[in-house]
Amino acid sequence: MSGTRTPTLTSRYERAAGGWGDKMRTLGYGDAYLGFLAAPPHRADPSDRICDVGCGTGTFAEAWVGVYGPPAQLTLLDPSPAMLTRAETALHRHGAATEPVPDGIDTFHPAAPFDHLLAAHVLEHVEDPVAALQTMRTWVNSGARLWLIVSKPHWCNAIIWLQWRHRAYRSEDVAAMLADAGWHLDSQYTFPSGPPSRTSRGYRAIAS
Ligand SMILES: C[S@@+](CC[C@H](N)C(=O)[O-])C[C@H]1O[C@@H](n2cnc3c(N)ncnc32)[C@H](O)[C@@H]1O
Repeated sequence: MSGTRTPTLTSRYERAAGGWGDKMRTLGYGDAYLGFLAAPPHRADPSDRICDVGCGTGTFAEAWVGVYGPPAQLTLLDPSPAMLTRAETALHRHGAATEPVPDGIDTFHPAAPFDHLLAAHVLEHVEDPVAALQTMRTWVNSGARLWLIVSKPHWCNAIIWLQWRHRAYRSEDVAAMLADAGWHLDSQYTFPSGPPSRTSRGYRAIAS
């Protein structure tokens, strides 16, 4: 199954939660996520139900609210309670109501389908990324969108790996994994500058 969510990884994210949001902002990930979400062609509706998968301190969900405004439902999914608390605080500052879920991809069962899934830098932590993407596919109906950000091979990620032991994937591999899991890759997004341009790539996919 998809979860490699060891207590060790979660406790490391628990300890990192205090400084995570500032780090993401300082390194330019907040602006990078905004650019990805705003890149045409984009579409969203105020009635949409959103889930930020592996939300951390909520940087991706914050960017969503910045581009599209508060959605009808915003579920924040993360096994780290410390991350979730900070994500909720950040989103509430933007006037967004949130549903925090202290859980992981492999065990979460949503009550109703989502319209958009946001998932930034979480696929790198699961043992079986295709299984994780398949699980996420069961959370949505056909036509729903996945906004995926995944680490790519680069020496910067070799340095980050020393701390987090995360994986990095070539774009061809992500495309194949999405297809195997029932997602149609709609477009890829290259972050224009700074650390995000070296560490990561964005993928927008539609549930087949
Ligand atoms: C690299 S951080 C990214 C956080 C956030 N998405 C961002 O871009 O700032 C990875 C997050 O994924 C969470 N995570 C790890 N394994 C997970 C799993 N199996 N399911 C859901 N979340 C997970 C961690 O607790 C952590 O908050």
